[in-house]
Amino acid sequence: MNGRGKTFYITTPIYYPSDKLHIGHSYCTVATDVMARYKRMQGFDVMFLTGTDEHGQKIEEKAKSAGVTPQQYVDQVVAGIKELWKLLNISNDRFIRTTDSYHVESVQKIFKELYDRGFIYKGSYKGKYCTPCESFWTESQLVDGKCPDCGREVKDAEEEAYFFKLSAFADKLLKLYEENPLFMEPQSRLNEMVNNFIKPGLEDLCVSRTSFSWGIPVTFDPKHVVYVWVDALSNYITALGYGNGKYQDYEKYWPADVHFVGKEIMRFHTIVWPAMLMALDLPLPKKVFGHGWLLLEGGKMSKSKGNVVDPVVLVERYGVDAIRYFLLREFPFGSDGLFSNESLIGRINSDLANDLGNLVSRSVAMVDKYFGGKLPAERENAPIDEEILTIARSLPARYEEQMEHFAFQNALIEIFKLISRCNKYIDETAPWVLGKDPANNPRLASVLYTLLECVRICGILLTPFMPDTAPKIFEQIGASPEVTSYESAWEIGLMPAQAQVQKGAGLFPRIDIAKELAALEKVEGKTAKKTEAAEKKAPEKSAPAEGVATIIGIEDFAKVQLRAAQVMACEPVPKADKLLRLELDDGSGKMRQVVSGIHPWYEPDMLIGKKVVVVANLKPAKLRGVESNGMILAADAGENDVKVLFLDESIPCGSAIR
Ligand code: MSP
Repeated sequence: MNGRGKTFYITTPIYYPSDKLHIGHSYCTVATDVMARYKRMQGFDVMFLTGTDEHGQKIEEKAKSAGVTPQQYVDQVVAGIKELWKLLNISNDRFIRTTDSYHVESVQKIFKELYDRGFIYKGSYKGKYCTPCESFWTESQLVDGKCPDCGREVKDAEEEAYFFKLSAFADKLLKLYEENPLFMEPQSRLNEMVNNFIKPGLEDLCVSRTSFSWGIPVTFDPKHVVYVWVDALSNYITALGYGNGKYQDYEKYWPADVHFVGKEIMRFHTIVWPAMLMALDLPLPKKVFGHGWLLLEGGKMSKSKGNVVDPVVLVERYGVDAIRYFLLREFPFGSDGLFSNESLIGRINSDLANDLGNLVSRSVAMVDKYFGGKLPAERENAPIDEEILTIARSLPARYEEQMEHFAFQNALIEIFKLISRCNKYIDETAPWVLGKDPANNPRLASVLYTLLECVRICGILLTPFMPDTAPKIFEQIGASPEVTSYESAWEIGLMPAQAQVQKGAGLFPRIDIAKELAALEKVEGKTAKKTEAAEKKAPEKSAPAEGVATIIGIEDFAKVQLRAAQVMACEPVPKADKLLRLELDDGSGKMRQVVSGIHPWYEPDMLIGKKVVVVANLKPAKLRGVESNGMILAADAGENDVKVLFLDESIPCGSAIR
């Protein structure tokens, strides 16, 4: 499909910056990224939005127990989430935080508009509240007296509150689903929404809170804050500039082409959100797709047992494209799937190392071996070449058919059918036999050209899934950008007759599964112990033994505030051989005093005027009676040598180091 001149607006849910993000959370964002890249490849003007959902009681409580303000708390965690998306090669065009002032302004206008139009009224709320899900429930909605979404305990709650007249929209919603059967997918979700929520009778929705303050204040009654779901769902239009002057993209991109969301939040996206938009007289999104959950044997991913589910660790060990590929190849997008490290490694070995990696390296190596890296122009075709090329010729259409239905798994299966066929073709044509007699060169060149063409087409179609690997493939087979555009996948014979290959590193090394699982067990053991310790709220955690790397998540690292500072004064601490007292300008306007055990290696005049790295949020400590507020970073430089990390002079005091 040619997307030139057309827009495509796609969104992920906005994430709670509360729990550590695991591989299940990455699933939706990776899928959205693949779709966004695919649409860009087709020429669409894409808007890919993601972000964070930062208000609510749960965040307020977490911040309190961490001893920081909610804003400080979310700032730290959001930095980690952004790093994770960078690591996963997520190409979002915009990132919205619900604490961004333009969003706050828009939500306040939306709430007031709904009130002015008579869709929001004041009442009093009595019900059951699930704090982790931020959801109010009626008695009849509970399952065994517990939250129907997460199965946890709920508590009684009563407060003065504003309500949204959701009950007025039941018929309109049913009409929407009837007239527009593709509004929500997969189809199974439709029955769930209609039978579980609409048919039993829609109740008005409580849309303000007074029991906590970390939220967007209602302008005309500021002791109320806006219910997080009204705040969060609005992000899809506020991020385009609806109700604010920050962006001017609403007319261009709204309505969204598709919202990708996890199945448990379909209710909000297919009932509450369209009702809000109807009340505001705004167009509805074209589609909401509810994907399945990644689960672990025995339950939810958050209770990781026996498997490493931290995406940062997984990307470090296997590379980002292997993880992206696995997520979309292993599970049908609409269904739940069981995640395990074993299936991940198995998939990498069979599909990426054996099938794809081997095809590329064998094809390139043979052009190199038999023709010095450059194919001769003379050819001798055989019917089997045409058989392979026929599969390649029809592949883009089959791929597109699947991609248009978000059937990522099937799209990949189509590509890998050709890859497997090519590997078999190599065995059938036995180039190593042909290569023995120069008289066979035209036939050999034809076989190798066929292979390069197939690899080129597969590489193009794999680009949205594996944005790092595809360019490596093109480089190795010598495919220039003119023959790797999406349109060029639809045409056979675009590689130059005398294609020049470039041998390169193997794309996906084979993993020794037994050794790797044993290594992962150690990583998991450490993570599990750490979690247990944290759960028991041990007052002081002991430092890990030297040389043993404790794996931490990016959000743990983001908690450490590193700042550039200049040493303004320095002197030895009396009666302490090793200690120096430093006064640092850390950009805060106040001098920061730090005591450091570096006197054996540094005299004060070697430090004064130098720029160093200071850990700015370390608990103050007293060393030989002198207060130290933070520490400066230094490296072990040998058996008995330490070197302070000095920064470039041009870095301003107070700069954050990440
Ligand atoms: N903040 C809300 C969304 C508001 S959208 C207007 C939220 N946040 S979340 O952080 O809890 O979840 C974000 C997404 O991650 C959801 O779509 C959820 O379904 C998804 N997943 C969380 N765990 C998951 C798996 N184990 N597997 C697949 N997706 C999972 O909900």
